[in-house]
Amino acid sequence: MKDTVYEPIKLDGPAGKSITRRSGREKVTGKATFSAEWPMDGLLYATPVVSQISRGRIIRIDSSLAEALPGVYKVLTPENLPSFTRLPASGEGNFSSIVASKVYPVAERDIYYAGQYIAAVIADSFETARDAALLVQVEYESMPSETNIRRAEGSEQPGSVSGAPPTVDEQNAEQVLSAAAVQVDQEYFTEGNYHNPLEPHATIAHWTIKGGKPYLLVYDSSQSLALARQTYAQLFNLDASQIRVVCQYMGGAFGSKGLMWPHSILAVLCSKAVNRPVKLVVSRNQLYGGTGYRTPLIQRVALGASQDGLIEAIIHAGSASTSEVDQYTESFTLVTRMMYQRKALKLEQFQCRLNTQVPTFMRAPAEAGGVFALETAIDELAVKLEVDPVALRIKNEPVKDLFSSKPFSSRHLTTALQEGAKAFGWHRRRKTPRELRDGSWLVGFGVSAATYPSLGFPTQVTLRIGSDGTAKILCCSQEMGTGTATVQAQLLADLLGIPQGRVQMKLGDTDLPAGGISGGSATTGSVGGAVRQAYDKLKERLFELLASDSKLRKVPIDQVQFIDGALVYKNEMARFEDILMDANRDFIDVDGSFSPSFQTSTSNHSFGSQFVEVGVDEDLGLIRVRRMLGCFACGTILNARTARSQFLGGMIMGVGQALQESIRWDHRLGRITNDDFAEYHVPVNADIPEIDVLWIDNPDFNATPIGAKGIGEIGITGVAAAIGNAVYNATGKRLRTLPMTPKEFL
Ligand code: MOS
Repeated sequence: MKDTVYEPIKLDGPAGKSITRRSGREKVTGKATFSAEWPMDGLLYATPVVSQISRGRIIRIDSSLAEALPGVYKVLTPENLPSFTRLPASGEGNFSSIVASKVYPVAERDIYYAGQYIAAVIADSFETARDAALLVQVEYESMPSETNIRRAEGSEQPGSVSGAPPTVDEQNAEQVLSAAAVQVDQEYFTEGNYHNPLEPHATIAHWTIKGGKPYLLVYDSSQSLALARQTYAQLFNLDASQIRVVCQYMGGAFGSKGLMWPHSILAVLCSKAVNRPVKLVVSRNQLYGGTGYRTPLIQRVALGASQDGLIEAIIHAGSASTSEVDQYTESFTLVTRMMYQRKALKLEQFQCRLNTQVPTFMRAPAEAGGVFALETAIDELAVKLEVDPVALRIKNEPVKDLFSSKPFSSRHLTTALQEGAKAFGWHRRRKTPRELRDGSWLVGFGVSAATYPSLGFPTQVTLRIGSDGTAKILCCSQEMGTGTATVQAQLLADLLGIPQGRVQMKLGDTDLPAGGISGGSATTGSVGGAVRQAYDKLKERLFELLASDSKLRKVPIDQVQFIDGALVYKNEMARFEDILMDANRDFIDVDGSFSPSFQTSTSNHSFGSQFVEVGVDEDLGLIRVRRMLGCFACGTILNARTARSQFLGGMIMGVGQALQESIRWDHRLGRITNDDFAEYHVPVNADIPEIDVLWIDNPDFNATPIGAKGIGEIGITGVAAAIGNAVYNATGKRLRTLPMTPKEFL
């Protein structure tokens, strides 16, 4: 057994406790200031004019009617747009910027997708700007477009952001498959999903002068403030010190606010054009096109196994979409490399260019779709082998990550499956479909494994330790509603041995030390890693501050312990607040950082199991989820309440993916027809049954310095497969398309 990368730390104080999220009260009482709500003197409002065609060229834009409307300040077109530097988009491997698309707002004459921003109206009220936008006359030359992934031609997908080659063929998997005693070989189709954060995307931008130089202040609903600042700096030829980006609260993000979408750039351009603060709120309709979506996937999964249920060959291949001009890689086969033991493996990914906005991350990008196909195929294999699907998964547990040949940092999938099965009452599942009924409902049980990689992003923090016994964590991370400020305060309070109420975290502002993107389920481990490093330096800093006559001074520092916020040697003890007081210091700052580079010696992933009971009314074509249970192994849990909420949220989003969410394109027009909450269906309370969430206590100090693996995204993975597998168990009908809708039974 190898040593862990980090010395385990003991957390037995405020960390792990069920504590209410700090920003919760402000949010529900309306006191929270969201990005669109900052009061600004002289604020103007911008509304984009969006393309009504899905591909072609702008011949002429006539803005005279709009300009004549009282209250209209200016109409921006390609003719009068302020200058900026065109950066490559982040999907092309430009990691120094987070520009989502190189189709820049208002700058292009070519149209690549419906909803593209082709002009912008700036007015003294939102209503006037919106009215005037409808008066802008645009003459187009329309060209044929493609929005149907099934019709689009695929080309081989280049390597993914994680450096993963998409094409893999180990040991001639097709041959091993055809020689296998038992085979499953199927196609799975998942529709595209659109992000619908309750708080729409919004930006307020203000160009001013500070110290004789241009200064850009931006309120931006963003998951990546530090990277946004860096990106604005490159776009507008400013030094980072001339830019401040702020986001104190967010009403949902889930990946949709990870990159910089055209509206943010447009808001800055508008402010530059009129020399006033300008607010741009993307309307619900404009999100569809204005921001990215989860790509539809066409996947083939083939499994070959021996008669006694050992998997010999795994093949996972398929197509995802990207846009006509931008590159987005949805690595839906990534999970298949490390999930099960096998002899032979083949992975292949193709991309289809569609006339859409570029797809983007959406909660468990890659895994949400990839796990659906893989875990449905595993269930199909269990049916063919006539074995229990829980037992089949356990039987095919790999001894290590067979792709990278690295040991897992920790896994515990078997435990998650066993504990989940026990708590769910899995033994009551009927082996044969159509045996369990409840009135008009056929009832079935389904299971899936869940997984998501444990990632990390470079993060810096400053700990401000005060002589009044308080502590502050300063870090430009983001509060997405996940509880970042709450759990980090719990962590530091635990380390310092003080009540959690004495620790505050300041975040959401680029004037603070740079944090990473709040995405990839990586924030808790990354920020926590930096907090731990700073904390580890605290002993030395406090030792230096000891008064020259302190008895502790006479002891070599390595014999002095730092326990519960105090330097301790035998009977001598000095608490940090007393040391600071004696040294006449109000506070000291200690910096810490986290770099994910160390995470390369093990294969790091969160794991879990999903159990679902469904009822199917075949006459009405209804599928109802009756019970759900998730059992997760995600390392240290810093707050039982916020963690449970994260798992619940992921599982509920999984119900949406499985049964409701779907982008409906009119492929003739290349336009999305269900671009609002009335027609883009997401689960409401009535769709969601009682959900149980369990987790396994397994701090993982190979994965992160605080033992925490990600919890934000794993909750959605496996849900759709477990629901589909339960539908099969209920009815004997195998559904391989998401969302599963009544038409499957009619
Ligand atoms: Mo997540 S899809 O990385 O916000």
